[in-house]
Amino acid sequence: MELLKSGMPRDEVVTATNTVPAVIDASFSIEQGEMFVVMGLSGSGKSTLVRCLNLMHPPTSGLVRVGGRDLASLSPTELRTLRAEKVSMVFQHFGLFPHRTIIENAAWGLEIRKVPKEERREKAIEALGLVGLSGWEDSYPGELSGGMQQRVGLARALATDADVLLMDEAFSALDPLIRGEMQEQLVSLQQDLQKTIVFITHDLNEAMFLGDRIAIMKAGQVVQIGTTEEILQEPADDYVRSFVQGVDRSRVLTAGAVMEEPVGTILHREGPSAALREMRLRQTGGVLVVDKRKRLVGAATDEDVARIIRSGERSLEKIIPLEDVAKVSPDTLLADCLIPSAESRVPIAVVDDDGRLLGVIPRVTLLSALGGNDANNETEQETGKNLASANASEETEGM
Ligand SMILES: Nc1ncnc2c1ncn2[C@@H]1O[C@H](COP(=O)(O)OP(=O)(O)OP(=O)(O)O)[C@@H](O)[C@H]1O
Ligand SMILES: [Mg+2]
Repeated sequence: MELLKSGMPRDEVVTATNTVPAVIDASFSIEQGEMFVVMGLSGSGKSTLVRCLNLMHPPTSGLVRVGGRDLASLSPTELRTLRAEKVSMVFQHFGLFPHRTIIENAAWGLEIRKVPKEERREKAIEALGLVGLSGWEDSYPGELSGGMQQRVGLARALATDADVLLMDEAFSALDPLIRGEMQEQLVSLQQDLQKTIVFITHDLNEAMFLGDRIAIMKAGQVVQIGTTEEILQEPADDYVRSFVQGVDRSRVLTAGAVMEEPVGTILHREGPSAALREMRLRQTGGVLVVDKRKRLVGAATDEDVARIIRSGERSLEKIIPLEDVAKVSPDTLLADCLIPSAESRVPIAVVDDDGRLLGVIPRVTLLSALGGNDANNETEQETGKNLASANASEETEGM
């Protein structure tokens, strides 16, 4: 600790003392109900960090507070209770007992707490239902696929009713398809149950799909903590940048994160001439139409409006009806915006549950978000550069 504090790099500390400082300087707090992901390369200290959170590894220095209580101040009995009832761990290799039935495995955390048998059964049945394993209660782990076994591991943690789940590479042993399903299931469970989850992974795609916030570790240190958007838009250093390059943005960025202010919409009662004026002003071929409470009512393209005006109509009744307008919710993944965007002649509308227009995604915004450009500055600079070089080549030609 002294050597580290004096600024000696980790490698040198290892050589000098024959001791690995596995986690150095990791300070953060996790909100109740948050899905907090810790990611980093193998050996970066993720497992050590997560094991510190329930004092399975007591930290050499520093402290861990859960619900305001310093865990170091707990007696051994209190600490056992905390692990059994408040902070539950889900392991990578499932940790199931092969000779026990699924329900016995799921109830294990309750058994060690000496919960009466009937209550144990009830809770385990409920938890197995939550992870989609109803009907498998009396089977044995060997009869289940890897994905199903992992669900049993998750059910075991859920059955304890713990507020905090620590999940160390919980999905890493699963094949990609099942892994994706488990990720989706965890997100929906989390929305229903509002657990606080610390999820460890070395896969940034998984981290970004799951995490409300992500802590990125390098050689024992937390080098960046932020939301998916923050990390994608402003990676803290080259290490983070190298991860970010491999990310499938379409599967981690949401409509809400890239949408733009809904400028250039028109009010339904304004009529076709106003729509045409707006399109000329914005030099676009289509507009979204809203009512005065900002609820989306439809869309109009230049052709629609020209036809309406030619036919002498004064209202926007015969525009693209609401059900045919490309619209998504703020948490729609960009992957699911691609087809609507390609098929639509107006920007995609991002609407809330009441149908109110929150923002728009013009196709160019979607494409630049997927291409990794920060739409607000890089694209402009790029365009500026391209224009400059186009001018330059024109000049050369002229000479
Ligand atoms: N029991 C141990 N004894 C000695 N060194 C250890 C022990 N456990 C971990 N380490 C060292 O601590 C460092 C961090 O290991 P840790 O297991 O926390 O990494 P990790 O990020 O979880 O890696 P992985 O992705 O491979 O699981 C590594 O350098 C490792 O060699
Ligand atoms: Mg690990």
